[in-house]
Amino acid sequence: MAYLMNSKDLLRKAQQERYAVPAFNIHNLETIQTVVEAAVELRSPVILAATPGTMDFAGRAYIQAIAETAAKLNDIPIVLHLDHHHTYESIEESLKLGTKSVMIDASQKNFEENISITKMVVETAHKYGATVEAELGKLVGQEDDLIIDDCDSAYTDPDLAVEFVERTGVDSLAVAIGTAHGLYKSEPKLDFERLTKIREKVSVPLVLHGASGVPKKDVQKCIELGCTKVNISTELKIPFSSGLREYLINHPEEMDPRKYMKHAKQEMKNVAIEKILMCGSAGKA
Ligand code: 13P
Repeated sequence: MAYLMNSKDLLRKAQQERYAVPAFNIHNLETIQTVVEAAVELRSPVILAATPGTMDFAGRAYIQAIAETAAKLNDIPIVLHLDHHHTYESIEESLKLGTKSVMIDASQKNFEENISITKMVVETAHKYGATVEAELGKLVGQEDDLIIDDCDSAYTDPDLAVEFVERTGVDSLAVAIGTAHGLYKSEPKLDFERLTKIREKVSVPLVLHGASGVPKKDVQKCIELGCTKVNISTELKIPFSSGLREYLINHPEEMDPRKYMKHAKQEMKNVAIEKILMCGSAGKA
């Protein structure tokens, strides 16, 4: 595609054709290459999601440059997306670097404060030609260093969702319907009825966070009911880490990153392929 895109056309097309674009959390050069290779192989659009923790670890400018290179080298739609950014300043920093898709997550704040910061981000991001995702409701689990307990979780209210989208002008909305960040202790029970109500009332693309560990049939039901972006992080971290661990245990003398990283990448790629197939985005590039 040559350039990193915003999420608008990608998610609208997914909405019309009833599939979801996978948003894979990436952390460095190798993880970006892995998910892009999987997407290219299956001709799928792909969203590279970077949290503030990733930016601290790898560097905002490095992540931007690597993602831009991936977009230049491959003829599929690639989006670099800021995942769960909590401050206006951090988002503005990336907009200045050329990021075209951002998430402002002020879901920890009260409704009015969430609206006010989201609106501010939307106004600035749109000037840069970037699209904005925001979250209403609170997901259980851990994302970077933020941990939300069961007792602090809150599902998205369909009527408030309408008001939130109208007053902020967001381009897509992350909904809390029973998924959690990280793995589950028991099978998650998703509130499909709530998702249906939100879909009926809200026209912007809806985003499913916390898809790791959710049975494939449930993710696909969410897609059928209107989720057009599916966020997956933990389930890709696991094969990368276990691949690396396994390789080093079997080759205790190995000290060449080019060898052990290759194995870790392959293990992660296998799961990325499965997830693209689950989202129904193969062949949609
Ligand atoms: P998981 O780690 O549960 O896949 O969550 C990913 C996510 O929602 C990132 O925003």
